[in-house]
Amino acid sequence: MKTVRTVAELRAQVSEWRRAGQRIAFAPTMGNLHAGHLKLIASGHKLADRVVSSVFVNPLQFGPTEDFGRYPRTLPDDQRRLESVNCDLLFAPTVDEMYPNGREHLCQVSLPHYSTILEGHFRPGHFDGVTTVVSILFNQVQPDVALFGEKDYQQLLVIRRMVSDLHMNIEIVGVPTEREADGLAMSSRNQYLGAQERQTAAVIHATLQDVAGALRAGNRDFPAICAQGLQRLQAAGFQPQYLEVRNPRLDPPGAQDEAFVVLLAAFLGKTRLIDNLIVKL
Ligand code: PAJ
Repeated sequence: MKTVRTVAELRAQVSEWRRAGQRIAFAPTMGNLHAGHLKLIASGHKLADRVVSSVFVNPLQFGPTEDFGRYPRTLPDDQRRLESVNCDLLFAPTVDEMYPNGREHLCQVSLPHYSTILEGHFRPGHFDGVTTVVSILFNQVQPDVALFGEKDYQQLLVIRRMVSDLHMNIEIVGVPTEREADGLAMSSRNQYLGAQERQTAAVIHATLQDVAGALRAGNRDFPAICAQGLQRLQAAGFQPQYLEVRNPRLDPPGAQDEAFVVLLAAFLGKTRLIDNLIVKL
């Protein structure tokens, strides 16, 4: 696998493949790769001739008090992991390569409403940073298909809407969440957890399953189901930010709906974890 640092090198390689009539898949990441990320690459291989990934810790999508500075940067390990799943090309640009005119007065891509609810409410500006960087990456790579994890359900939805609104000719594919044996969704942020916290973290998935169980049993008192889940999280030592049932478009659920998404964000000590469960009846 080749690693390139510049847009020029990236474009040279991708256009060579394009001239040969090959289809390109793209899986953007912030690195510190785990089995969840690698699943995106494997899914890409099923849909295209070449799979490109990127590792870029995007400063735009972190709030001023968030973990941009200490976000784990592990490029040599990431390269080895990507090679192990036959990724064809890694794009690992610097901040200057991505934002050559600086970040002040930068042209931004911003999706209203769906960027400001749930995660967006607690992380103002986060999704503007995501839509902006993903637009830039899409323009750089110009893939046929791009893969995103259902782990970040709202991000997947926001990207789908951006691609549709802006008529980007890219197919967006969602990949199911990869989990640890105890149900904890794999995340680069899990390594912030201490040993005791790591054990407790399994309660997140268990709580989502409780809520899913209530929905499957026909309970449609959404606020009451969520209040119970919040209590369970608090009792286990979490400081939850939200636990909500929504419809698959992230609008408020209806009693007659046949599919739901249960989404939550919670602090465990200093670590902020998110997860969700899709419930299809
Ligand atoms: P990052 O958190 O590194 O995640 C990169 C991709 O991997 C995202 O599509 C995410 O949903 C997916 N992913 C993470 N954990 C997963 C898991 N356990 N199972 C399946 N997929 C998983 O998301 C970002 O980076 C950034 O916001 C990015 C899109 C790269 C823009 O900067």
